[in-house]
Amino acid sequence: MAGDRFSVVNELTVIVLAAGGGTRMRSKTPKVLHQVAGRSMVGHVLAAVRALGPSRVVTVVGHQRELVAAHVAELDPDAIVAVQEEQLGTGHAVRVAVEALGGISGTVLVAYADTPLLRAESLRRLLAGHEGHAATILSGVVRDPFGYGRIVRGEDGGVSAIVEEKDGDEAIRQIAEINSGIIAFDAAFLADVLPRLTNDNAKGEFYLTDTVGLAREKGLSVGAVVVEDPKEIEGANDREQLAAVGKELNRRILSRWMADGVTIVDPATTWIDADAELATDVTLLPGVQLLGATKVDEDAVIGPDTTLKDCEIGAGAQVVRSHANLAVVGAGAEVGPFSYLRPGTVLGRGGKIGGFVETKNARIGDGAKVPHLSYVGDAEVGEGSNIGAGTIFANYDGVDKHRTVVGRHAKTGSNNTFIAPVVIGDGASTGGGTVVRGEVPPGALAVSSGPLRIIEGWARAKRPGTPQAAAATAAETADEREASHAVTSEDDPGVGETARGATES
Ligand code: UD1
Ligand code: MG
Repeated sequence: MAGDRFSVVNELTVIVLAAGGGTRMRSKTPKVLHQVAGRSMVGHVLAAVRALGPSRVVTVVGHQRELVAAHVAELDPDAIVAVQEEQLGTGHAVRVAVEALGGISGTVLVAYADTPLLRAESLRRLLAGHEGHAATILSGVVRDPFGYGRIVRGEDGGVSAIVEEKDGDEAIRQIAEINSGIIAFDAAFLADVLPRLTNDNAKGEFYLTDTVGLAREKGLSVGAVVVEDPKEIEGANDREQLAAVGKELNRRILSRWMADGVTIVDPATTWIDADAELATDVTLLPGVQLLGATKVDEDAVIGPDTTLKDCEIGAGAQVVRSHANLAVVGAGAEVGPFSYLRPGTVLGRGGKIGGFVETKNARIGDGAKVPHLSYVGDAEVGEGSNIGAGTIFANYDGVDKHRTVVGRHAKTGSNNTFIAPVVIGDGASTGGGTVVRGEVPPGALAVSSGPLRIIEGWARAKRPGTPQAAAATAAETADEREASHAVTSEDDPGVGETARGATES
């Protein structure tokens, strides 16, 4: 995140306000930790401000401070955390941050932690427009300015004050240009003015916005840079706004990937997290979610209806109607439909995990295949091997998990159970229905199902009077009749087979 620290402004300090309660979320999770596009709201804001290369970043925490502070420390270990014990207003929060910094110089940028749509590009425009001002506001012209502080401009077009909704008269409420809350300050001015803020207003809070009026009293100029897209400065205060912000962020992410050469057949049903990465000529079919740090390489086709979380998908691979978490799929491999890849699944180049197969902690080698209806857990399958339909890798004895290792170019039969620990050697085979324990040497055939026993007339003898016995009797009688007539029908090869068999016997 850090980047080139002095690339944009020589000395920049960023203060991110995240102490508020967020009561409208009605959640046990602090507001700024709610996620959009796979990242917390404060995470998005920290990423945007870090892109500016600031020398210091301070996050002000208050409500549920342990959770917020721990999260910030994890995301951005270099960020300073300042605690605001009581939420006495935005001006007070900035004062707490400045005290934690032990002095400020250069430019100080204040941002809120609940505006995840904010782009570094807009912050750069704000800083560029800040030249020569004591303070510069990122403002926005919005259709519904209700609730926001309004930007009051003087005759010369310069900003003369910010008036809060609750403190304004009708004329003020008509103003459509609002304060986003994101303000750049000259550090010396800010340090001088913070102790002079009062809480003599409708909310009884120390307003950061009062700094504007105080600047004008001193004859200092205040600027405002109007954000191009006012959506960027919208905060998410309740679940409905959270969904709206998430949708907008997704729209933006999809449009970026499409510009980079990714085909997205249905943007309305495709969701890509901020940290996912896609190569050119990837195709996403409808109903795809690429979550977390998922990476998809060139020419891969994902979907329809597929969710991948923290996965790596190789070039040209195909994942159809499946769900995967922390899995790696090799180049040219095939997954699905209806596969469930759990953490630790690694499928080699050109390999296959087919329909209704669940895998966990399983390395399936290059060109190896588990095509149908199987569970593969705690296993290794060597290159070029084929696992028969309906095979269960029984990895759990009720207490411990055990591993199964299948060598290279082995061919195991359908409906096998591998009761781990199992080792099946290179080039070995197993028969259909085999239950394997222990070791099968390389090149051997393991067969555990006994010879087929046939007890004639069993249904008639043991299930008399049932539909089963009636059906058996009818079939036996028909067989006997056919045997005695021994006809061959050219029209019906099936009947012909039966008849020929009967004549020979
Ligand atoms: C604030 C601005 C208003 C602007 C609006 C934009 C002031 C006085 N008003 O109003 O001009 O249009 O934001 O959304 O600044 N916070 C703290 N500690 C506090 C109080 C607030 O950290 O003691 C944080 C909150 O968590 C929040 C942000 O500061 O992230 C804004 O506080 P909030 O109470 O929502 O201010 P608004 O009334 O919305
Ligand atoms: Mg607010």
